[in-house]
Amino acid sequence: MLVASNRGPVSYQVGEDGALHARRGGGGLVSGLSAIGSDAGSVWVCAALGDGDRAAVRRADGGLLPAEDTGGQRVRMLDIDASVHAEAYNGIANSVLWFVHHMLYQTPLEPVFDAEFRRQWGSYEAYNRAFAEALAEEAAEGAAVLIQDYHLALAPRMLRRLRPDLRIGHFSHTPWAPPDYFRLLPDDIAAELLGGILGADRAAFLTQRWADAFTACCHAVLGPSIPSGTRIGVHGLGADADFLRERAHRPDVDERMALLREEIGPGRKAIVRVDRTELSKNIVRGLLAYEQLLADHPEWREKVVHVAFAYPSRQDLAVYRDYTAEVRRVAQEINERYGVPGWTPVVLHVKDDFARSLAAYRLADVALVNPIRDGMNLVAKEVPVVSDAGCALVLSREAGAYEELGDDAFVVNPYDIAGTARALHEALTLPGGERAERSKRLAAAATALPPAQWFLDQLGALEAS
Ligand code: F6P
Repeated sequence: MLVASNRGPVSYQVGEDGALHARRGGGGLVSGLSAIGSDAGSVWVCAALGDGDRAAVRRADGGLLPAEDTGGQRVRMLDIDASVHAEAYNGIANSVLWFVHHMLYQTPLEPVFDAEFRRQWGSYEAYNRAFAEALAEEAAEGAAVLIQDYHLALAPRMLRRLRPDLRIGHFSHTPWAPPDYFRLLPDDIAAELLGGILGADRAAFLTQRWADAFTACCHAVLGPSIPSGTRIGVHGLGADADFLRERAHRPDVDERMALLREEIGPGRKAIVRVDRTELSKNIVRGLLAYEQLLADHPEWREKVVHVAFAYPSRQDLAVYRDYTAEVRRVAQEINERYGVPGWTPVVLHVKDDFARSLAAYRLADVALVNPIRDGMNLVAKEVPVVSDAGCALVLSREAGAYEELGDDAFVVNPYDIAGTARALHEALTLPGGERAERSKRLAAAATALPPAQWFLDQLGALEAS
């Protein structure tokens, strides 16, 4: 069994002493694959993402990273030329495909399909080919290969051509755009992307909505005769309750809770959000909705704090950096407008700290998850599982998680700032008993398909296909 993804389960940093330090990543895929353990037959193929990773690959034995760095898993990291990787990852995956699937292009942020785009597309093909070739080398006869995400949309068909004996699955962690939007891509590129995924035996998605959009795009772009027997599947990745509950009660989280309680102030309610600083997460409109709440309901002033943790993401790209700067600017404006000595309305931290996120989850009275579009959104699932007293959830109807959590959430249109402000008010005023009941139901729905089961389900369905 093989897994392929851009980001692997481990990354390396070069320390001040020049030594390499390995760091295990988190996330659903890593915990899902842990279910397979250190099975000698399984290999995870990923890309080297920085200087530390590249140094680790150079000293790796036959391309495989040392088992002590990977928790025993066999991990092959590919040292793809840095400029090819940058054009594929920054140029195509995160500047074009991410924007299409999340429907983020809006004037003046428009797609540009010029000669530079075509050059970057060549790198995207080369990057996908590097994965397909490495997988073809590593796979035993008839092995199952699970290829992950929009970075690797071409790899399934490339691998199929190299190794027709393999069972190939592709899983999309993003939404899929509806045909009218998807077709803003040049026709040949749209056909390549769909045909690439259709090279798999099974193409799977986080929700039925994204699966249906993919099928509709195939019909719209490729016509009625889709050239493949690809099956379409849906696996709604859930939160890992055991891991989260254990991790959230370790001393480093308790320490951060004490600090956070001081920042919030005694007796105040906390509206919590945790995201990567990335446009689809809609952090700015969330801040504006909070500001509207303070304007419409002066009774909440000094009684509530918006805790917003925004972790830097894809900062090589100006559009993501600018968005991060805007988040900071809007938070600061709210604090200047409404803040008084002893009360800071928005507590914003722009730095990755998982233990601090868990501390915020535990303290949350309300979780705000309002993406423009999101494949699933695990934060919506994690907060109810971890929160100490149960929390209310304000949730965008455009998040994949809405399909499972919508009944017990305060559902919002992510563009509707006034509507989101109203939902925040309703969530804050929900009586304690009802809040706890709803939170329990949210946690149950959120953990219905834990990562290990999610992963095994995909594998089982591929083997059965
Ligand atoms: O949502 C798609 C996805 O690939 C997730 O699986 C992942 O959490 C996120 O994007 C990571 O993005 P990046 O690797 O660019 O930081």
